[in-house]
Amino acid sequence: MKIAVYGANGYQGKLVLAEANRRGLGVVLVGRDAARLRRAADAVGLSGPDVRVAAVDDRDALVAAFRTADAVVNCAGPFTRTGAAVVEAAIAAGRHYLDTAGEQLYIKSVFDGFGARAAAAGVCVVPAANDACVPGDMVAALLAERLGPLEEITSVHLISGGGGPSRGSLRSVIESIDIIKAGGLVYDGGDWRPAPSTRQSSIVLPGGGEAVPMAPFPLSEVVTIPRHVRVGRVRGLAEAELTARLSAPLDPAVIEGLPEGPTERARATQRFTYLIDAVAPDGRRARGIVEGPDTYGTTAVIAVEGARRLITDPAEPGVLAPAQAYPPADFLDSLLPGDVRWSVQASGL
Ligand SMILES: NC(=O)c1ccc[n+]([C@@H]2O[C@H](COP(=O)([O-])OP(=O)(O)OC[C@H]3O[C@@H](n4cnc5c(N)ncnc54)[C@H](OP(=O)(O)O)[C@@H]3O)[C@@H](O)[C@H]2O)c1
Repeated sequence: MKIAVYGANGYQGKLVLAEANRRGLGVVLVGRDAARLRRAADAVGLSGPDVRVAAVDDRDALVAAFRTADAVVNCAGPFTRTGAAVVEAAIAAGRHYLDTAGEQLYIKSVFDGFGARAAAAGVCVVPAANDACVPGDMVAALLAERLGPLEEITSVHLISGGGGPSRGSLRSVIESIDIIKAGGLVYDGGDWRPAPSTRQSSIVLPGGGEAVPMAPFPLSEVVTIPRHVRVGRVRGLAEAELTARLSAPLDPAVIEGLPEGPTERARATQRFTYLIDAVAPDGRRARGIVEGPDTYGTTAVIAVEGARRLITDPAEPGVLAPAQAYPPADFLDSLLPGDVRWSVQASGL
């Protein structure tokens, strides 16, 4: 079994290579620069790496490279600029596709633009196969199983420690700056629209303590959840301090001078908590909680496991939300060895 990793020499790409190698899966390193791809193979200890050069605007080279593998994992952000060409080439090559994108408008554009083509080609396309969207989307499906059709879902992200975002994540923030400043899209009454306000609210973490100020944020699962859950409204919140920091203009020259991403040591200090709060029309409430370490490492585990499952046990072809591509509880349980824990509970919110 072989996975083609596009953007294999990036920070996230190398983590995906290392995880695939650890799991005994073959990898094809694909990107626009052979020397950088070879250095990435060396960095993760791959001997005799299969390196294929394919620029994002060279469709024939992309298709040929992807045909040498069983699935494509695209880590080449910012996806807003380059993602569509890679999705298109994977579908043309007849290969399942996942990416690690967190750019809300790009993710929506994949659902809007590629569903029919993916279905006709018999491939599964799963955008946003990352540490946040996958558990959030899956827990939302499990909440809906418990409560039935829902009036509202609020997805909340809290992250502590970890050494900050990678350079690639910061470049993706620049591409998404307008929608971040606007507080993202919300889903309301059958369609997605700009968040009605960027007003702050606050939330108390499951263990208690002080309320943390939160603000609307363009989370990926706001796009994916309504694909499979009957729900009136879906919105995303992140820590107000983070949204304010990311909304300030970032100087690309400053980003280029930063380290590629957090060190392994810094990643080991990181904890994420994702809360998914659901309200039924009759007022019943339930909360899903997902907690874990190391967002980039967890994304690598999710992308590789997601690709492995698409190859061995594919879902109905098309562009799919995580919970449509994989059985939610089973997939979430597969993350336990990586210390990702989840629960779904009725709550007195
Ligand atoms: N929860 C989340 O939302 C989440 C979690 C993890 C990762 N992510 C996303 O994953 C992406 C990757 O992050 P990263 O830290 O790995 O970034 P990175 O280190 O900058 O790596 C980006 C990779 O993409 C390639 N690339 C960029 N533009 C390209 C183009 N025009 N043509 C061909 N290749 C191109 C780069 O190749 P060169 O070296 O040749 O430039 C590099 O291999 C980001 O968008 C990040 O936001 C999101």
